[in-house]
Amino acid sequence: MESKPKVLLTGATGFVGGRLLRALSQAGVATRCIARSIQRFPKDLAESPGVEVVQGDLLHREGLERALDSMDVGYYLVHSMGGRSVFQYEAYIDRDLQAAENFVKAADVAGLKRIVYLGGLGEMADNLSAHLMSRQKVGQILQSGRVQTTVLRAANIIGAGGAPFEMLRHLAERLPVMICPKWIDTRCQPISVENVIEYLTGCAFQLSTAGLTLDIGGPDIITYRMLLQIYAEMRGLRRLIIAVPFLSPLLSSYWISLITPVPAGIVMPLVEGLRNEVICRDTRIRELVPTRLLTMKEAICNALAELEQHSGVPISRQACFCQKYAE
Ligand SMILES: NC(=O)c1ccc[n+]([C@@H]2O[C@H](COP(=O)([O-])OP(=O)(O)OC[C@H]3O[C@@H](n4cnc5c(N)ncnc54)[C@H](OP(=O)(O)O)[C@@H]3O)[C@@H](O)[C@H]2O)c1
Repeated sequence: MESKPKVLLTGATGFVGGRLLRALSQAGVATRCIARSIQRFPKDLAESPGVEVVQGDLLHREGLERALDSMDVGYYLVHSMGGRSVFQYEAYIDRDLQAAENFVKAADVAGLKRIVYLGGLGEMADNLSAHLMSRQKVGQILQSGRVQTTVLRAANIIGAGGAPFEMLRHLAERLPVMICPKWIDTRCQPISVENVIEYLTGCAFQLSTAGLTLDIGGPDIITYRMLLQIYAEMRGLRRLIIAVPFLSPLLSSYWISLITPVPAGIVMPLVEGLRNEVICRDTRIRELVPTRLLTMKEAICNALAELEQHSGVPISRQACFCQKYAE
């Protein structure tokens, strides 16, 4: 792949995929997106230079052959969580695995050269939640084909519009006192969405990452309690967090879906996974794709600034917090 690779992007309508598409377009990389609904595909993205959109659905094997034709690198940024129902939300696991199997088979037939998948951190031996287990299994399925597949494993990705940040933001903004289960003191290693995009683009161009499983994380290893406290401090909010032993993940999910706009079908699997530590064990990515990692304060600053810019409504005097913390 001496010239710029031709890229197939799945999940381009999503939080990470939309940002990756912008970055690829700005870098002059020809990118074809496979989307379930062309009508719902953001017009500004579809009309960006070098972008093509084809209709398709990974779960139902629609459009895959056409989408993969003559492509070099395929980004796999798809999951099947969602929906407002708190019942039967676990059906996403079968859909996750089926979609990955469909993709890897079609990629093999099409002769794709590389796959880059963004999955989740967490160790198999650690009584992983269903969602984190599903992320691992999808990685294994994608790596089982003939195409060399890079698996990037991340904890929570912090950026405006992403489920983890929106949960964090709405909880911290709305609740002066939070009664939380034990998971509030689980350790995690969140990463800014800006760094994730740098790693994703870096992997497509960096052949030495082909076939590897690499952990990606920011510089801060913190608990969820600390993450809430960092956010609250940056926004000048006084928040009391109380951990109690009897609150189950299911009960926590109910109230988090009431307080935040994130759908229950996403909140439930994510909250269930908060019991598992998500920390990088393998830091090879830092040599393979060098970049400056943003601290959580910087990542939150950027997310708040972006929200303010898009909505035109000042969230607060956060600009001064941003300057203070972005130093
Ligand atoms: N966000 C995080 O904090 C985080 C952390 C670690 C890892 N990750 C991983 O990063 C990847 C992207 O996550 P995200 O947060 O960007 O998710 P997201 O915003 O929910 O986007 C999911 C994307 O998947 C697409 N999709 C779902 N089912 C599909 C199907 N059957 N066929 C075609 N497209 C389908 C959706 O398309 P529609 O518009 O049609 O629904 C959407 O574009 C996932 O693999 C996730 O596990 C995310």
